[in-house]
Amino acid sequence: MKAIIGGTGVDSLDLFSLRQQLVQTEYGSVTLFIGEDEMDHLIFLPRHGSAHSLPPHLINYRANVSALAQFGVDEAIGIYAVGSISEKLGVGQVGLVSDFIDLTGGTREHTFFTGGEKQVVHIPMDRIFDAELNRRLLALDRSLVDAGVYACTNGPRLETCAEIRMLSTLGADVVGMTLATEVTLLREAGICTASLAYSINWAAGVGSDEFSFIGDETIAHLKQRMTQLCCALFPSSSR
Ligand code: HPA
Repeated sequence: MKAIIGGTGVDSLDLFSLRQQLVQTEYGSVTLFIGEDEMDHLIFLPRHGSAHSLPPHLINYRANVSALAQFGVDEAIGIYAVGSISEKLGVGQVGLVSDFIDLTGGTREHTFFTGGEKQVVHIPMDRIFDAELNRRLLALDRSLVDAGVYACTNGPRLETCAEIRMLSTLGADVVGMTLATEVTLLREAGICTASLAYSINWAAGVGSDEFSFIGDETIAHLKQRMTQLCCALFPSSSR
C-alpha cells in the first residue's frame, strides 16, 4: 500500500473516489481515506483531520503513522506547507526537503520506542528521505527544487523575526510545524518517505513586505499539482 499525507491546503483528495474508514490503533483512532477500484492501493491521510481541526502540536502523529502501518503502507509522500527563510524554495514553489532540524522541544509523543516491551531503538537519521522515491518524483517533475533544510517549530503560533534570523543562522531554509515529528515516526515504522514542501509565505521578517500568505486560489493550484504528482508516482501498477 502507498500513502499520501496532506496538511494545510491539502486536507482532501479529489482526483479519484475514496471511501472513509475509521481505524483503531493502540494510540487512538484515525480516519483514513482509501482509494476505490483501481486506486485501492492508495490511502490519503489528512494529518490535521479532514476538517483541519487539529493544530500541529496536538496531532496524534503516532496514531496516524500506526494506522498506515496497519494497512501495510511501505511508501508515503508527505506534503507540507512551509514558510520560506532562504531563496532555495521561493514562495509559490514546490520542492523536496533534504533534511530537518527538530525544534519542537520534545513535548510531543514523538517516538514508538518508549522502552520496556516497546524497546529502546535509536533510529539513524543520516539518510532520512528515500533516495529512490526522490529520484522517481524528480523524474516525473523536473521543476521540483531542492527545498533544503526544514526547521520544525512547535507552533501553533508563527515565529518572531528574531527566531527566523536564528533559524537562518542554524542553516534552515524553510520552516513548518509538522514534518520532523511525522517523518521520524514514519522512519521508526519502516515506511519509506519523501517530503514535498510548498511555500505559502516568506517567514517573519524575510523580505521587505509585510507578512502575508499566498491566496487560496494559488494554494488550490499547488494542491492540484502536488496531488497529481503523487498519484502519478503511485499508479495502479504499483500495488
Ligand atoms: N512558520 C511556521 N509554519 C509555517 C509557516 C511559517 O512561516 N508557513 C507555513 N507553515
